[in-house]
Amino acid sequence: MAGRARSGRARVADGDRRRDDASAYGPPDLWQAEGVDVSALGNDLSRVLYTPEEVQDRIGELAAQVDRDYEGKDVLLVGVLNGAVMIMADLSRALSIHCRMDWMAISSYGSGTKSSGVVRILKDLSTDIAGMHVLVVEDIVDTGLTLSYLISNLRSRNPASLEVLTAFRKPEALKMPVEVRYVGFDIPSEFVVGYGLDYDQRYRNLTGVATLAPHVYS
Ligand code: PRP
Repeated sequence: MAGRARSGRARVADGDRRRDDASAYGPPDLWQAEGVDVSALGNDLSRVLYTPEEVQDRIGELAAQVDRDYEGKDVLLVGVLNGAVMIMADLSRALSIHCRMDWMAISSYGSGTKSSGVVRILKDLSTDIAGMHVLVVEDIVDTGLTLSYLISNLRSRNPASLEVLTAFRKPEALKMPVEVRYVGFDIPSEFVVGYGLDYDQRYRNLTGVATLAPHVYS
């Protein structure tokens, strides 16, 4: 288990080096450092919450739990686009068990950055999940409104089991109690970007996680 997590981290680190060499993100190993050279991101980031290595370590731990819990079962990972792309890719590759993958795209009615809880399905699953062990994979649970809708929608399709894994959760922002079996990190209720989390569709591809400087969004 630990061996897999280590090799996963090594792959990510190599990818970072290639990308950082050729981009405006700054020098190699930017996100391997204890802190981040925020000047390399035009001071867009104010505080590092988790380095890429910390993120990958935690994904390895979550994968080990999922391996144990789903041993001997055929699990379907359902990723919620777009933010879950990173966690789906890393989690699935850190698993030992067989898994299938499918995706949903949903859009929350409402204005600005706030969820309304009324959700429109833009892309539905290609899989009939009746009788299947479904693990919903999210990047973040914020108010919980989106997930609450999603859970009741998927439950009506009669899966054998239905659980949720999220990379991040904002406990202070929760408006709707939702049961999340696997949580990567609880984070503060601030603008947080990286590892799938965006601001205005940017910063998702950062391999670490940081708070956004107020000048970016104010
Ligand atoms: C994010 C995230 C969840 C939702 C959580 O999606 O992926 O689906 O918000 O928010 P909530 O708990 O307040 O309902 P978003 O609509 O930002 O789309 P994205 O994944 O494409 O960034």
